[in-house]
Amino acid sequence: MATVAESVKRYSTFFKKHAATTVLDYGTGTMRNARYLEKQGFMVYAADIPEQVERLRNSTIGTGLERLMNTDELPTSQLNVDLVLSTYVFNIIMESGDRHAYLDNAVRNLKAGGYLLMEVRCRQLNEQCDPTCRDFFACDECSKTLTHQELDTLLHPHGLRRISHYYRSHAVSAIYQKVFTK
Ligand SMILES: C[S@@+](CC[C@H](N)C(=O)[O-])C[C@H]1O[C@@H](n2cnc3c(N)ncnc32)[C@H](O)[C@@H]1O
Repeated sequence: MATVAESVKRYSTFFKKHAATTVLDYGTGTMRNARYLEKQGFMVYAADIPEQVERLRNSTIGTGLERLMNTDELPTSQLNVDLVLSTYVFNIIMESGDRHAYLDNAVRNLKAGGYLLMEVRCRQLNEQCDPTCRDFFACDECSKTLTHQELDTLLHPHGLRRISHYYRSHAVSAIYQKVFTK
């Protein structure tokens, strides 16, 4: 099985301590994180775009999965999970409207006070994707990276507040909490 994402390994103790044990792995890919957390006793829904779900269902990786969902189910579901996982998904969604739709679905299925863990590719400040890049973060490669400040700007309007983050080589990981509504 593929190695679990570093942020998931690192923060799983935090989530257990805060009784955040029901999870939506949103953009599950090969399910490396979903499988890891299931083994740790979490209850995990794994969602991906229909083509990827089809691939998983037709492969041994998807065997025995009751909670595998198509992303097009999420705008009408209310899973009320404690935690949404998003690793290396948000940085590949390039259109602003698609990013907001993704966050709407994440927040809709997350309980008030619940957590969103996001890990994305990042760049070092003032770094170009390669020495010849003159686009300053607007070229196809640079725009597939985000900083924690950019994440804050995108996630705040969705009622998500950052409570922790760290950088590691070319990735940034951050935990956001969904603000309680009256
Ligand atoms: C780079 S893979 C990461 C997979 C997994 N999260 C991981 O860390 O191993 C990106 C995944 O996001 C999925 N994806 C792409 N666009 C998406 C969207 N709009 N909503 C949810 N998943 C999406 C892709 O199908 C793919 O499985």
